[in-house]
Amino acid sequence: MRINFNLSKSYPAGWCMVGRTGCNARLSNTSYAAQPYSGRNIFYAEECVTRLADFVGTQSMADLYDRYWVPAALDVFARELAKRVQPGTHVLDLGTGTGLVAGYASERAGPAGEVTGLDPTTDLLGAARAKQFSGAHVSWIEGSGEEMPFEDASFDIVLCHQGLQYVTDREATFSEIKRVLKPGGQLHAGVWSSADRQPAFGFVEDSLGSHIGADQKPIHAWSFGGQEELRRLAEGAGLTIERLETVEHPWRFDSIQQFIDVQIACAGRTDENGKLAMGLVDLDDESWLPAIDAFGKDAHAALGSFVSHSGLSAPFASDEMSAKA
Ligand SMILES: C[S@@+](CC[C@H](N)C(=O)[O-])C[C@H]1O[C@@H](n2cnc3c(N)ncnc32)[C@H](O)[C@@H]1O
Repeated sequence: MRINFNLSKSYPAGWCMVGRTGCNARLSNTSYAAQPYSGRNIFYAEECVTRLADFVGTQSMADLYDRYWVPAALDVFARELAKRVQPGTHVLDLGTGTGLVAGYASERAGPAGEVTGLDPTTDLLGAARAKQFSGAHVSWIEGSGEEMPFEDASFDIVLCHQGLQYVTDREATFSEIKRVLKPGGQLHAGVWSSADRQPAFGFVEDSLGSHIGADQKPIHAWSFGGQEELRRLAEGAGLTIERLETVEHPWRFDSIQQFIDVQIACAGRTDENGKLAMGLVDLDDESWLPAIDAFGKDAHAALGSFVSHSGLSAPFASDEMSAKA
């Protein structure tokens, strides 16, 4: 399926939905948005349109997430986090998404355990529901971390993998984590470290900030605030910190081009309804082509030395915490 870029059309600024994929796309009043595409780079434009259209195709947000983000970036971190689950425990996977961590947790908890996946984003939770996992009984509930639909002291373990960046009220979420944990129960959480701690991919925030719009920086997933923010929130909720460290694993993409496309079409942020939305710009709006081009040039400059015959591979850092209720 082709995305139709109308090279003579001008588009209003604001939020819009790319309905075919379920990906949201954000427009803002940046200099690029204010300057309609000139048409000078018509061959580049056609190639870019075709490439992004092929990349997104007819895939849902959950398809894109599982196909690109999980193997390239999330899987190795998720597996490590789930190793903290003991057999027979009752586990909550907060911000479960497509159920990545819940699946590993279910194997670890085993038949005597129970795993509950909670997430506000219907499309991702639908993909999780469709999966079969071995081990514990797994159930899925639509809801958010700020107000969890569980009794006090329901869980032995709360896992939250790359979800805390997206909650709209961090204090309320941590207070809810403390409430739903049994006394002595454990929280294990991971959030991507800030851009200045990322050896290869740290350029992304500044590049998106300058080409797509400054308001993209705080919505990007690497702006949580590091170990100190984890400490502040956990201690503020009355949890006792037992582990606070930065762990690194490689992110792997087939090529720099694939990384660029994943960022443009699938970067995550919280939408106005508090759910996950993917995509940084409106792929149907050609006025974004120069911004996509400029981001691509920055990516090639920053990542060229991390490419080998097997593709793009570079370390990525995540701040991880274990804390006791
Ligand atoms: C980057 S994904 C991580 C998903 C999953 N934990 C994984 O490792 O693949 C972030 C998740 O946080 C969820 N999320 C967003 N806002 C949330 C909220 N207020 N409460 C709980 N989860 C939320 C999103 O829907 C999304 O599934």
